[in-house]
Amino acid sequence: METANFCRVRGAGYVIAMELFTLETARLRLRPLTLADAPRLHELFDTDPEVWRFDPGYARTLDERVEVIASYIEQYQTHGFGFFAVERRSDGILMGQCGLTPHAFEGRDGTVTTEFEVMYKLGRLFWNQGYATEAAQRWIDYGFAIAGLGRLVVCPDRGNSASLRVLEKLGFRMEDDWLVPGSILAFLENPGGILAP
Ligand SMILES: CC(C)(COP(=O)(O)OP(=O)(O)OC[C@H]1O[C@@H](n2cnc3c(N)ncnc32)[C@H](O)[C@@H]1OP(=O)(O)O)[C@@H](O)C(=O)NCCC(=O)NCCS
Repeated sequence: METANFCRVRGAGYVIAMELFTLETARLRLRPLTLADAPRLHELFDTDPEVWRFDPGYARTLDERVEVIASYIEQYQTHGFGFFAVERRSDGILMGQCGLTPHAFEGRDGTVTTEFEVMYKLGRLFWNQGYATEAAQRWIDYGFAIAGLGRLVVCPDRGNSASLRVLEKLGFRMEDDWLVPGSILAFLENPGGILAP
């Protein structure tokens, strides 16, 4: 379940090594991304309008993809997890990314809280085989049982039918017309009722 894989965490003037981990499911390995993954993710995500259409809505350059992955690696240093690579265990192929990321979230009363969002994105070759649901379910289990998060949120575009179906399969509840017009708020409470620290 776990492999030796460290990132550095800065705090109180110290830099300490923090162990990262690899999660597995029946068909998938979820491992920390590295900058070496940038060309492959650029090819999978940024050269196919169907993949970038809803998120982020434009094609990133390879340099921008490198920057995005660097920001994920920074998140590992802050939270110990974030967006991870999604590899198929049978052949080791990198299919996309999935993980939990912090998101500044404005409630209807205007208060802003940090929520964790479960996010998933795969190259089109790998769609409709249950991979995103399988990866996201593993992260949900991790987020609730290990990270102790109180709930997870996702804000998909209303037109993103595949993402909405994934969320439905995962048991998310949805509220239409959230604060961002055209978006949906999907949320899943920790059934154990453990609140985030
Ligand atoms: C969203 C995404 C990750 C789903 O990945 P996936 O591995 O194909 O997801 P799954 O196979 O687990 O489930 C997809 C479900 O959506 C359904 N689906 C796919 N396209 C659909 C469409 N146009 N309309 C309705 N349902 C659709 C599939 O049939 C499947 O449901 P089923 O299992 O009941 O048959 C993938 O489409 C993707 O990478 N999209 C681009 C990035 C993105 O939009 N990410 C989400 C941001 S919120």
